Amino acid sequence: MPFENLTPDRFNLFQRIWYSIFPGTYYGNADRQRYRRLFNSLLLHFRPKVVPRRTLKFTLTWGLGGMAVVLLGMLFVTGLMLKFAYQPVPDQAYASIVNLQNTVLFGRLIRNIHHWSGNALLLVVFLHFLRVFFTGAFQPPRQFNWVLGLVMFLLVLGSNFTGYLLPWDQLAFWAITICTGMLEYIPAIGVGLKKMISGGNEIGPATLSNFFAVHTAVIPACLVILMPFHFWRVRKSKGLVIPRTPQEDPADKGESVATIPNLIIRELAVAAVLIALIMVVSVVFNAPLEAKANPGLSPNPTKAPWYFAGLQELLLHFHPLFAVLLIPVVTAVALFFLPYIRYDADTAGVWFASLRGRRTAMVAAFVGLIITPPAIIADEFIVDVAAWMPGVPAVISNGLLPAALVLAAIIGFYGLMKRYYAANNNEAIQAVFVLLLMAFIILTITCIWFRGSGMALMWPG
Ligand code: HEM
Ligand code: HEM
Repeated sequence: MPFENLTPDRFNLFQRIWYSIFPGTYYGNADRQRYRRLFNSLLLHFRPKVVPRRTLKFTLTWGLGGMAVVLLGMLFVTGLMLKFAYQPVPDQAYASIVNLQNTVLFGRLIRNIHHWSGNALLLVVFLHFLRVFFTGAFQPPRQFNWVLGLVMFLLVLGSNFTGYLLPWDQLAFWAITICTGMLEYIPAIGVGLKKMISGGNEIGPATLSNFFAVHTAVIPACLVILMPFHFWRVRKSKGLVIPRTPQEDPADKGESVATIPNLIIRELAVAAVLIALIMVVSVVFNAPLEAKANPGLSPNPTKAPWYFAGLQELLLHFHPLFAVLLIPVVTAVALFFLPYIRYDADTAGVWFASLRGRRTAMVAAFVGLIITPPAIIADEFIVDVAAWMPGVPAVISNGLLPAALVLAAIIGFYGLMKRYYAANNNEAIQAVFVLLLMAFIILTITCIWFRGSGMALMWPG
């Protein structure tokens, strides 16, 4: 170091400036060691000093929570940069993006990074949610962290949704029109809710400025508050779940190792690979930008963003009251209460709850896979409830009746798992979760790839 064996009065100009910023660096070797320890212990305010070696296993977390943090960091940085070029008014929004892409140095790259990080975040958070579920990491004492996670998931969804409108191209305008239009189906409050979100009757200047404010201020602020809360809950639960086989004692944590360097080095490696990946994707693939929004010319088909495609597909099969309100709300409430159910066994740390749990999950995935596509096709081409039940209101024939049938099938499936496989309630609930997850994935894929003009079923190509 430039200060070795010197006193401040003998510093040169560079050393004096340096010393005015970092007085600590003047100290000798032993002192510097002390400072390094101090810095490390500062870092350890956010982290435990030691962590159980077994929780370092990559196949416990797959690095997913850490990836979400890195992606959020990238989104915040690139989002702030975008704010310098972007104009949140319909007349200028599209032009400001074109200008950003064509004339601002690295403008296109920054937009691409923001676009791909936003989409990747949604995927990563969803996978993190699945890993937490399938390792039983929502059981006591981690119940509330699951709830916090779900709220953050909704915020990430909201972030992607509000960001989608900002480029103000045809894709953005019509996708958001479709989504806000879905709200109108909610009885009593639907029309008011739609008006509140879009700031009027149509998607226009008020919608854009609302979405911009929510996207760049409200949601980031909520995330900044909730994230430390989420990490603090991990600390309070004495770290992550310990990965184990069903026979191993959950209380046996095994040996502990120092966080620095064991955990930190792994986190840095995951972050480096992820950042490199996003950079490569952002250099090779451009974020989409279609023609400027034209409220008079709707594309056919008009599709919602991919993360709402499952919901849009559901709307083709159920009365809107059920597709847009009851089914999503019941599902969300069930997810929020999931950790508070009384379970038969403590399965925290055991992938898929048990060996039997693995089998029942596989059966459920298989059943979902072979039942959903024929159900979609049958509803499209064979079932015509309006003709079969003339005079019966659509909300019953196309809502209550099919929803009751689906509910009965789910309850039947739960019972079957318990009886036929002698599953405990952890395993049976997990099987129902997998069944619904598979159905949801197939609905999403159908809407994205198998729906063409007029949203009719078609074979891609
Ligand atoms: C959870 C974090 C965030 C997510 C998931 C997210 C996602 C998105 C998405 C998907 C777009 C549309 C990009 C496109 O396809 O063109 C977008 C646009 C935009 N975002 Fe974000 N964003 C996040 C945070 C932020 C923050 C913190 C800011 C600024 C403070 C910001 C500012 C912007 C701006 C100015 C645009 C318009 C530029 C454009 O569309 O390319 N974002 N965001
Ligand atoms: C913005 C979204 C999120 C971020 C940034 C985030 C971040 C993290 C991180 C860094 C960890 C520790 C490491 C790891 O498990 O990978 C963690 C753990 C955890 N997260 Fe999240 N998370 C998010 C969303 C969620 C969601 C959607 C859920 C579930 C609904 C959830 C539930 C949990 C739980 C229960 C733990 C403790 C896991 C354990 O003890 O093994 N998080 N989260």
